[in-house]
Amino acid sequence: MNLAVQILATGGLVAIPTETVYGLGAAIDNEIAIAKIFAVKGRPHNHPLIVHIANIDELQTVAVNIHRDAIKLAHACWPGPLTLLLQRSENVSMSVTGGRDTVAVRIPDNSFTQQLIINLGSPIAAPSANRFGKVSPTTAQHVCDDLQNDVELIVDDGASIIGVESTIVDFSVTPPQLLRPGGIPIEDIEQILGYTIRYADGVSRASGMLQNHYQPSCTVLLVHTDSEAQQLKVSLASQYDRVRILNRCNNLPLYATLLYSDLRQADSDQIQALIAVLPENKGLGAAIRDRLTKAAGSGPPLPAS
Ligand code: TXA
Ligand code: MG
Repeated sequence: MNLAVQILATGGLVAIPTETVYGLGAAIDNEIAIAKIFAVKGRPHNHPLIVHIANIDELQTVAVNIHRDAIKLAHACWPGPLTLLLQRSENVSMSVTGGRDTVAVRIPDNSFTQQLIINLGSPIAAPSANRFGKVSPTTAQHVCDDLQNDVELIVDDGASIIGVESTIVDFSVTPPQLLRPGGIPIEDIEQILGYTIRYADGVSRASGMLQNHYQPSCTVLLVHTDSEAQQLKVSLASQYDRVRILNRCNNLPLYATLLYSDLRQADSDQIQALIAVLPENKGLGAAIRDRLTKAAGSGPPLPAS
C-alpha cells in the first residue's frame, strides 16, 4: 500500500484492481502521470479517462451541477460497476477529460483501491490497463503480459469479479443516456430511476462506442445459438485447423467474468477462429454482446445457415 501511494504521489503509474477490470492508475492532479497513461496505452488524447473516487462526498469536488437522479443512482449502485458522466469541476484538468467539459466518475468495489485513493488523498484517473483497442485485463497477470515494462507497480488482488467494464450513464444530457452497457444491467438502473434510458445518439462520446475495440488477434465469428456454432465449426474445418466455440450463455455472470480471459486464452492457444455465441440482449447479456460484437469488429459477416 505505502509503495503504491508513494509511486502515485510522485507521478508514477500503478495498475489497480477493480471489480470490473484492472485499471492503469495515476493521481488526477499530476499532469505528467496523466500524460504517461495516454503514452503507455497508445490512446488518442481526446479519449477521456474515468476518475475513481472513494466516497460519494468526493463527487462534489470533481463534478458540478449534479442532477439529483445521478446522486440517487450513486447511492444505490456505489461502490460498483456504474460510471456517471457529469459536468466537470475546475479540480479536474482537461487532460483527464480529453478536453471535454464532462467528467466520468465512479467508486470501484475494491477495498484496496478505495483505501489507496483515501491514503493518496486524491482521486485516481484510470482507463483499463491494456493497449488501446485490445482486450481488457481482468487479472494482474493480464496486465503484466501487456504492460510489464511500462508500469511501476501492478497490484495483484485476484481476478476481477464482474469481468466487464462499468455501465456508463451520461447525466450531462437530459434525459440521461446510456453510453456503454456494462456490469450493471440497464434494466436495474431504469428500475431505480423509474424511467427508460436510451442508448446515446449523436457523435461517439466513449471509445467503448467505437466499432472495433476489445480485439484479440484471432478472428471472432458471432452466432446466436449453439447449433449454429456447431454447424459453422464443421463448415470451417476445411479452412482452419484450430477453431473454438465460446458459449457460456447458460451462466451470464460467468460469461462476463471469464470473457476477457477466454479471448486472451484463444490467442495464447493460437486459435484461428473463435465462434462466440451471443447471449440475449438483456440484463448482463447486453454488455457481453457489446464486447463480443466489438471483438469481432467489422470482420466477416455471418455465413448464411
Ligand atoms: O470499469 C471501468 O469503467 C474500468 C475500470 C478501470 O474502472 N475503466 C474503463 O476505462 O473501462 P476505459 O478508459 O477503458 O473506458 C472509459 C470509457 C471510454 O470509452 C471513455 O471514452 C469514456 O469512458 N469516457 C470517460 N470520460 C468521458 C467523458 N468525459 N465523456 C465521454 N466519455 C467518457
Ligand atoms: Mg478500455
